[in-house]
Amino acid sequence: MSEMNYSDKIPNNVNLSEDRTLQRALEQWQPNYLKWWSDMGPDDSQGFDVYLRTAISVDPQGWAQFGHVKMPDYRWGIFLNPGDAERKIHFGDHKGEKAWQDVPGEHRANLRRIIVTQGDTEPASVEQQRHLGLTAPSLYDLRNLFQVNVEEGRHLWAMVYLLHKHFGRDGRDEAEGLLERRSGDANNPRILGAFNEATPDWLSFFMFTYFTDRDGKYQLCALAESAFDPLARTTKFMLTEEAHHMFVGESGISRVIQRTAQKMNELKTDDVGKLRAAGVIDLPTLQRYINFHFSVTIDLFGSDESSNAATFYSSGLKGRFEEGKRMDDHVLKGQTYKVIVAKDGQLVEKEVPMLNALNEVLRDDYIKDSVAGVERWNKVLDKAGIALRLRVPHKAFHRNIGALSGVKVSPDGRVVSEAEWNATVGQWLPSTEDRAYIASLMGRVVEPGKFANWIAPPVMGINRQLADFEYVRFN
Ligand SMILES: [Fe+2]
Ligand SMILES: [Fe+2]
Repeated sequence: MSEMNYSDKIPNNVNLSEDRTLQRALEQWQPNYLKWWSDMGPDDSQGFDVYLRTAISVDPQGWAQFGHVKMPDYRWGIFLNPGDAERKIHFGDHKGEKAWQDVPGEHRANLRRIIVTQGDTEPASVEQQRHLGLTAPSLYDLRNLFQVNVEEGRHLWAMVYLLHKHFGRDGRDEAEGLLERRSGDANNPRILGAFNEATPDWLSFFMFTYFTDRDGKYQLCALAESAFDPLARTTKFMLTEEAHHMFVGESGISRVIQRTAQKMNELKTDDVGKLRAAGVIDLPTLQRYINFHFSVTIDLFGSDESSNAATFYSSGLKGRFEEGKRMDDHVLKGQTYKVIVAKDGQLVEKEVPMLNALNEVLRDDYIKDSVAGVERWNKVLDKAGIALRLRVPHKAFHRNIGALSGVKVSPDGRVVSEAEWNATVGQWLPSTEDRAYIASLMGRVVEPGKFANWIAPPVMGINRQLADFEYVRFN
């Protein structure tokens, strides 16, 4: 493991300079990446000096270096967590064998697909968020947006490195494809549904980083168990960065709730009209945004029953969340798991082979984690003496993938008729009016230490900076 070499064009701890072919291939990809960043990265921000955290190595001192940087000069590097030469595969049919340092021929197509699908989400989210800088509620938030964006860019680099190093010609083609697809494009969209949805406003951004970046966490955790060691090591390091993205979402929503609760108490009202007149985000609207982002995100885990999921597990490509901490045989043959299906107008549980239900297993782990953060939001309401509680909808609500796809289910888990759905959906999902109202709140606040009316300031600055710190300098 070498330290980062600053003379390298591409900072790395993978001895890139010793593999000239790979180095050249990545150096050829780099200008295309930068072109993509200038076309599709944060809108109208190329010249800003942004207080960013840059990773220059994977050790505790090196992975979070703070300083003002122009985003196109951010050092997008390739970092893998340290390896263990003796590491063994700890699940699936190859359990007990040595972890793979290269891709076994028979798993090449599946691994490539897994890496490309993960890689595709990274630039997709940058594209989705590219206009948000124009309506940031504060310099602090603007900086956090840009931090998330540059790190998603680095995550793309992480996946492109694996494609170039381990997948030859096909890998190089896929790496180009990752720069060619566009979020929401009718002809050449990103691979996964949620990554083609718009992120039009900051409430959506905070919901996205809370819910959808958390999907990222669970996918990365499953890949961090992989028998393909370079994938395991690269995703482990990505997870250290992902934690900040989820923090941005959780604290962002928490600050929205805090501000709304403050106005509710000040005006002694929960009347939506009065609260909107006061310029804050009413709790029913927040709930509808939660319903939307939660349901769209849990679709990302895939079909509840999937033979691919079984194959990925048994062949050692993708483990379960915290595979190593589980107390079973890590092979799972003959075990079962409960999934939900709709039958005669009711949701019922159905027992299926666990190997086929591993998407559902990961989804359920994700749901547990999501619920915990929503409970922390409820503490803010509790503290303010407000009785209403936010909650994630039933997992059968508003689904578009798997057995529940298209079944009309209310947020509390009742199968409803088409007519009831149509009559009530405006109370369950953000309406055009909700979105227009949220859009009307978005206006740029860039004076250091000032915040838009609809959101409370953070408890603490980034890297303990003071409240009026100039996180972004516009020049
Ligand atoms: Fe990411
Ligand atoms: Fe992320």
